[in-house]
Order: sequence, then structure tokens, then C-alpha cells
Amino acid sequence: MRATGSDYMHWAKFKPPVRFALTASEVPHFRMDSLPIAIADLDMDGASHPRYPPLREAIARRYGVAAEQVAAADGTSMANFLAMAALIAPGDEVLVERPTYEPLLGIASFLGAEIKRFDRRAEDRFRIDVDRVAAGLSERTRLIVITNLHNPSSALADEAELGALAKLARKTNARVLVDEVYLDSAVPARRSAAHLGPEFVCTNSLTKVYGLSGLRCGWILAEPELAERMWRLNDLFGVNQAHQAEMLACIAFERLDEILGQTPAMLGRNRALFDVFVAGRPDLECMPAEHGIVAFPRWTGNTEPLAAHLREHQDTAVVPGSWFEMPDHFRVGLGVPTDLLEGGLKRLGAALDDLQ
Ligand SMILES: Cc1ncc(COP(=O)(O)O)c(C=O)c1O
Repeated sequence: MRATGSDYMHWAKFKPPVRFALTASEVPHFRMDSLPIAIADLDMDGASHPRYPPLREAIARRYGVAAEQVAAADGTSMANFLAMAALIAPGDEVLVERPTYEPLLGIASFLGAEIKRFDRRAEDRFRIDVDRVAAGLSERTRLIVITNLHNPSSALADEAELGALAKLARKTNARVLVDEVYLDSAVPARRSAAHLGPEFVCTNSLTKVYGLSGLRCGWILAEPELAERMWRLNDLFGVNQAHQAEMLACIAFERLDEILGQTPAMLGRNRALFDVFVAGRPDLECMPAEHGIVAFPRWTGNTEPLAAHLREHQDTAVVPGSWFEMPDHFRVGLGVPTDLLEGGLKRLGAALDDLQ
């Protein structure tokens, strides 16, 4: 049966709140009203602006591509939908990493694709094993789908791995969709796969790394002809973006470094703190937290009861690995103020001790 929604997203949106919420995969929200913005700066005349050029150009400048390669979308979520809808037809094969971000599977299913999987294994530090991808490929494969950084593990696919994927994709005239919503939190910074060849279709937004999820400023970087197809397809969905949000996004692009502020330093501290926590726990295994906003340790058993225990007794939440098809793992969000992470990890340690 085709997906008609995302159970994961529904869970993520409506789970009861806790004090130590280590479920989020984004950094703390940035208050746009801390910038000197007047309401008059926001073109409040009620008009909408098809393909608002200043925003398209701001995205193109930031990511070093031509404006014709940029299509706008409501968040990476709609960017992923538009990208897949433009690239696949019912019955096409789509090869998706496992584990992955569940809505990517939901979109492919909704579009009637036949979904095949390739594993990214914990014992390989969730690296992309190109032979496994090759084994899943057929002449009906139209799209290979990955997240980079990888959600849930934050593993980085380097340019050699991406190049090998492009080579595979060329064999069957397929494309590679790279969801790059976490890529701007790689250490050091990495360029978008959009620079590596026409096979790549890359999606991103201001949500995760910049703490601006409310703007819903997302985009796709692709070949101009494909980007055009996505703009046209969006005429069936949102037609235009909310213009005041576009104006705010333009302001954000002018001040991205200021918006990032101390966030990279906080993430660095938090990753180090998390590594020390894992090193002190023989019951956990996890690759070092080098990049990104989340980590995905393995425990000794099913992590659903662990997550339930944490919530009930420790006012703390993590994402059980069952949402990522790996029930013996769980995802920890590192994009919270360091004292909150410290408190959450302490409580996680207590829960792990309780359940030993
Ligand atoms: C891999 C991935 N892509 C996309 C999204 C959604 O991003 P946005 O808020 O920009 O739609 C998420 C959110 O968790 C994600 O993890």
C-alpha cells in the first residue's frame, strides 16, 4: 500500500514535551527579531513574487552555483518531494539508504516507486559501501537517495564516495538525490554535491543548522532543466512561496554568519561531551561525533523500552532507533545548550543503569 503520510513526522511533532529533550535534530531557534528588521522591510503589500529573484540569487551565491540551478521549496521536506516527483514515475525503482530519514521512503512510496534498499552498517561507521549500492542497482533504477550528513548517524560521505555513486547512476541514467540539510554542520565545511556533476540533485534549507525552521526556506540545486521542471511542478502545489518569509530569508542570507554565531562552538563542545559519555559506557557503541547535530549509538537491546523509561522516570527523551529501522540504536540530538545536554546525558546514564 502506498504511504499517505509520515508516522515518524507525526510522532516527532506531537510527542509529549519533556525537560531534557534530546530528540531534536536542529540547533536552538534563532530569533529573527534580534536583527534590526522593521515591518516596512517586508513588502507587506499583499503581492506574491514568482520565483523571487533576490532569494534565488542569495541561495545561488551562498552555494556557488548559477541561479538557474536553484528551485525554491517549503523546507527540505517539500524540496525532497519536488525533487522526487520530478524524477520518478510509478513503477520506477528507487534505491534508498538504510537507515534513513523515514519521510524519504514515504515520498517514494507515495509516488508509486518500487523501493529497494542498501545498508549503511554501524560496523562501517555508516559509510556508503558502493558495492552494496551497485548490488541493488537495476536498469529500472531512476534514483539513488542518500542523506549527507547521514540522518541518523551524521556520517559524512566524502567526494570520492559521492563520485562513485555518480558513476553508478550514469550506468542506468539515474540521478542521485542528496539531502544536505545537515551538511553545513560538517567539520570542516564541505561543498554541496551539486558541484560534482549533473547526476546530483541536492536539497537543503535554513532549518537545521541555522535554527530557522519557521521560515520554511528550502531549495533544490540541480541542472537548470531539472530545476525548471521543479518550479513548474510546484505550480500544482504551493504556486509561490510566502513572500514575507522570502523577504526574511533574504535578510537571513545576508547575515548567516551572525545567525550561526556561537552554534558551531556549542556543537563542538557537545560532540566532545557526548564522546566522553560514550567512552564511559561499556553498554554503548558509537563512532566519534565528528560532524553534525545528532549521534546514533547502539545499545545492548531494544531502545523503545529505554526511551519509555527515560521519559517516565527521567523527564528526558531520545529517538528510539525503531524509527530508523535499527531498534538497538537510538538517536541523540546534540543541538541543545550544553548544560541541557549535560543534564540529559546524566539522566540517560541513570536510565541505562536502571535497565542493565
Ligand atoms: C534528512 C532530513 N531532511 C529533511 C528534514 C526536514 O527539513 P525541513 O524542516 O527543512 O523541511 C529533516 C528533519 O528532520 C531531516 O532530518
